[in-house]
Amino acid sequence: MNSRTSLSSWKKLVTQSETMAKCHMKELFAINEQRFNEFSIQLPSFLLDYSKNLITTETISTLLELAKECDVEVWRKKMFQGESINSTENRAVLHTALRNRSNKDIIIAKKNISEDIRHALVKVEEFSNKIRQGLWKGYSGKPITDAVNIGVGGSNLGPQMVTEALRQYSDNSINVHYVSNVDGTQIADVLRKLNPEKVLFIVSSKTFTTTETMTNAKTAMKWLTASSFDNKAIKKHFVAVSSNKKNAISFGIEENNVFDMWDWVGGRFSLWSAIGLPIAIDLGFDKFIALLDGANDIDNHFCFAPLESNAPVILALLSVWNCTFLGHQSQAILPYDQSLHRLSAYLQQAEMESNGKSVSWDGDDIDYATVPTIWGELGINGQHAFYQYLHQSNNIVPADFIGSVETVTPVNNHHNTLLSNFLAQTQALMQGVNKGQICLDLKAKGYTDEYIEKVSSHKVHKGNRPTNTILLKRLEPRSLGSLIALYEHKIFVQGIILKICSFDQWGVELGKSLAHKIQKELEGKEINAGHDSSTKGLMNFIYSTLENTK
Ligand code: F6P
Repeated sequence: MNSRTSLSSWKKLVTQSETMAKCHMKELFAINEQRFNEFSIQLPSFLLDYSKNLITTETISTLLELAKECDVEVWRKKMFQGESINSTENRAVLHTALRNRSNKDIIIAKKNISEDIRHALVKVEEFSNKIRQGLWKGYSGKPITDAVNIGVGGSNLGPQMVTEALRQYSDNSINVHYVSNVDGTQIADVLRKLNPEKVLFIVSSKTFTTTETMTNAKTAMKWLTASSFDNKAIKKHFVAVSSNKKNAISFGIEENNVFDMWDWVGGRFSLWSAIGLPIAIDLGFDKFIALLDGANDIDNHFCFAPLESNAPVILALLSVWNCTFLGHQSQAILPYDQSLHRLSAYLQQAEMESNGKSVSWDGDDIDYATVPTIWGELGINGQHAFYQYLHQSNNIVPADFIGSVETVTPVNNHHNTLLSNFLAQTQALMQGVNKGQICLDLKAKGYTDEYIEKVSSHKVHKGNRPTNTILLKRLEPRSLGSLIALYEHKIFVQGIILKICSFDQWGVELGKSLAHKIQKELEGKEINAGHDSSTKGLMNFIYSTLENTK
C-alpha cells in the first residue's frame, strides 16, 4: 500500500467523499450563512472564494490534517532553503530566489546564487533599456524595432502569456513576437513582416538542445546573414538565454550576448529569470520588477500564513479533493479577461508537466488519480461553446474563474456585462435549477402543459459543480506576478500531497528520441525495421504521396 493511502486523514477523506457525494452545495449554502466568510481568503491583490466547492468545515479540516501528515511545511522549507527536492535530477528548486530581492545569501554547492541572480538582473535591465531607448543598433546602424523570442514550452509560454496579459501597459516602443512551433509556417509568417536591419532574436532555451528551437534559430540566422551578407551581423541581432553557455556559443552567439540561467530553475518556472527578457523589453524593466515583487508577495504569504488561510495550500487541497477523492479528472481555467487569453495554456504546462505522473518520488506505482487534465479558454467565449457541457454533462468539471474588479480598458458598460456573466456562471454551476422550478417558470410565462412536459427535463441543470473564484482588484504587473506564483505554489503542494516529484519531466523524452530517429529515415526516404505497422503505413503514405506529386 502506498504510504499516502494509509494515512489516517486519507482514509477519513475517502469516507467523507462518499458522504459528500450525496450532498448538494445549494443546501450547504442554505444551512450556513457564513459559508463565504468561512471559505474565502483575501490577499492584497486578489480575493479567493472557494465556498462553491463540495466541502464542509470538516472536509477542510481533514484536508489540512492531510497536509500536516504529508509534511507540507517541512517540504516548503526544503524548497526555499535550496535542498535538492528535484530528486530524480538531484537539483534544487529555487525559482522563488529569482524574485527575492532582499539581498539574502542563498548558498548552493558553496556558491552564493543571490549574487548570480543580481548580476543577471542588472544585465537584463541594461540590455532591455538599451534596446528600448534605441541605443543598441543593428548591423546597418539602425535601432531595433522588433524582438523575436525563439523558444518553446517554458521558454515561450511564460513570457508570451505575460506580455499578452500586460499588453495595455506596453508603450509599444518595441514589437515583441514569439516563434515556438517548428512548423515553418510560424517563423515564415513572423519574418515576412520584419526588416532584418532592425530585428533582435532572443534564442531562449535552458538546455540549448531543443530541436524545435534550434531549427527555428538556424532559419532566423540564415535569414539574417542572407540579408546582411555578413556573419558579423549575428553579434548585433542574436542573444541567447541558456544554462548551456557552451552550446549557445558554438551555435554562433557571442559570449557577452548569452544571458545566464541555472539548473535550479525549471523551464516552466523560469519567466522570472532572463527567460523573461521579452517582458522587460516590451514593458520596461520597472514593470518586470513589479511582476517579480508580486510573486514575492505570494512567496511570503505561502511561507508565513497558517495552512488554513494559505491560498496556494487551500487550492492544492481542493484540487486533490476534487480529483483524487471525488473523481473529477478534468479542470477548466476560465479567465474573464481578454488579456489572460494565454493563461490556460501556461497553466496546462505548469500543472500537467509537473504533476501528470503515475510514479511516486520513491519510484512506486501510484494507484490514485493524481492531477486533472487542465484546459480552458476565455470564459465568455467558452459560454457560447463548451459551457453546455459544464452545466449539463454527466462529467463534472471543476473550474477556476479568474476576473478583475476594475478593467484596465474601460469601454462603455462592457465590464459590467463581463462581470455579471462571471458572477452568474459560478452561481448557476453551483445552484442549478430543478424540474419543479422550470415547470413553474414556464407555466408563469404561459406555455402549454404539452410544451412544458416536452422540454422541462432538457432544461434541468443539476448544479453542484465546484468552482473557485479568483477576483483580482485589477490586472497589473504586480497582481499578475501574484496570480502566477499562487498557481506555482499550488502545484508544489499538490505534488507533495500526491507524493510526486513535480520538477522533472521524463515523460517528454521517449517521443523526442523516436522523432530524432524517424527524421533521419524521412530525410533518407528509408523505413528501418522495427516500426509497428501503423507507423510503417504512415511513412509509406508520405513517401508515395511525395513521389506522386513530383
Ligand atoms: O520538452 C519539454 C521541455 O523540456 C520543457 O520542460 C521545457 O520548458 C521545454 O521543453 C523547452 O526546453 P528548453 O528551454 O531547454 O529549450
